[in-house]
Amino acid sequence: MLSLLWAVFLGYALTRHAVGHSINSPYRIDVHSHAIPDIWKQAMISAGFPIKNGTLYNDGEPVPDWSLDSHIDSMDTLGVNYSTLSITAPGISFIKNAQKAKSLARRINLLLHEYTETHPTRLGALCLLPLPHVKEAVAEIEFCLNTLNFTGIGLYTNTYGLYLGDSRMDPIFEALNKLNASVFVHPAAPTCTSVALNHPMPIIEYPFDTVRAIENLLINGQRSRYPDLKMIFSHGGGAIPYLATRIAGVATLDYGGGIPFSQSLAQLAGYYFDLASATSNIQLTALKSFIGAKKLVTGIDYPYVPLAQAQPGVAAIQANGNFSDDEMDLIRYENALEIFPRISKALKLT
Ligand SMILES: *[C@@H]1O[C@H](CO)[C@@H](O)[C@H](O)[C@H]1NC(C)=O
Ligand SMILES: *[C@@H]1O[C@H](CO)[C@@H](O)[C@H](O)[C@H]1NC(C)=O
Ligand SMILES: *[C@@H]1O[C@H](CO)[C@@H](O)[C@H](O)[C@H]1NC(C)=O
Ligand SMILES: *[C@@H]1O[C@H](CO)[C@@H](O)[C@H](O)[C@H]1NC(C)=O
Ligand SMILES: *[C@@H]1O[C@H](CO)[C@@H](O)[C@H](O)[C@H]1NC(C)=O
Repeated sequence: MLSLLWAVFLGYALTRHAVGHSINSPYRIDVHSHAIPDIWKQAMISAGFPIKNGTLYNDGEPVPDWSLDSHIDSMDTLGVNYSTLSITAPGISFIKNAQKAKSLARRINLLLHEYTETHPTRLGALCLLPLPHVKEAVAEIEFCLNTLNFTGIGLYTNTYGLYLGDSRMDPIFEALNKLNASVFVHPAAPTCTSVALNHPMPIIEYPFDTVRAIENLLINGQRSRYPDLKMIFSHGGGAIPYLATRIAGVATLDYGGGIPFSQSLAQLAGYYFDLASATSNIQLTALKSFIGAKKLVTGIDYPYVPLAQAQPGVAAIQANGNFSDDEMDLIRYENALEIFPRISKALKLT
């Protein structure tokens, strides 16, 4: 009896070892959280972003207060062990001059690097690119990954109207592919702002812009040219779980590109989606059915989503999605480690 128990235990331990890490549950990695450095806020103010009653606004939303200490405190409150820091939309796409964009991206990336040096077992960083300036962005990808050892790269659904899927973005995908980088894609506002009817962009334009980028990657064939890059889209993939079969259906028609239905559907379900603001029973049921627990990662969206909203959301994922304990391990950290092998390296797990 004892030896049988030992055999079961050893089998379990070896399985764990075989997936290349040795973290004990509970462990949680948040792939969607934001740093808000002062130099970035100052650049937005200089570029004329609105200030109402003393508060800076971006995409119709107030820019929250942020500090490195409050970030770590929020992680402790939410039971997050490790976060990857990124800069939210619009990045620095409002800077028209390529040299200025390049030097601001560099300054911000060096700050992100400082934050990760301060908390090496708690924080990783996703590189801010000076898009839409493609040549400068390629150089920054190389600097972030090769010199600063960043966890991965941050992209946006569009930067000043340049969408993922546009062939002008090919050099970016080429560089990411060559360096085997993994990518976190944050939604951005469309440049045609009148569609938002004066409502804040994050409410519906962010999720719809995620759909727009994913559709553009499909129809223009960019994703099928770079199929191996691991890409995370935010907020449960925008409206993709609901719209995927419609998109794939229309794409089979001549005017939609004539792409076989199953090929489109497999492509759309080949991304990873984070669960920031996607924790309800309706959303998780759709996500589980469309993409499954192997493709879901944890996202908190601190400090834009208030803790009072993030905390019950994260706590409800298992019940609302009816996920097993093993599926929760995938969602909490195992998928994130698979997407970002550099996290395992930073945590000295391999
Ligand atoms: C303006 O800001 C002050 C101080 O933060 C706050 O007390 C006040 O309610 C705000 N007024 C409006 C109209 O938002
Ligand atoms: C991860 O965080 C949880 C909750 O804060 C904590 O109980 C656990 O010890 C942490 N794990 C590691 C390996 O630091
Ligand atoms: C990046 O990693 C390499 C190899 O592990 C190391 O030599 C180098 O010091 C690291 N760079 C920074 C900026 O941490
Ligand atoms: C939850 O999942 C279990 C195991 O897969 C299944 O037996 C059960 O019917 C599910 N419950 C709901 C409400 O879907
Ligand atoms: C590329 O990254 C994946 C994980 O994203 C890893 O499994 C693979 O070994 C890496 N390949 C190379 C050549 O580094």
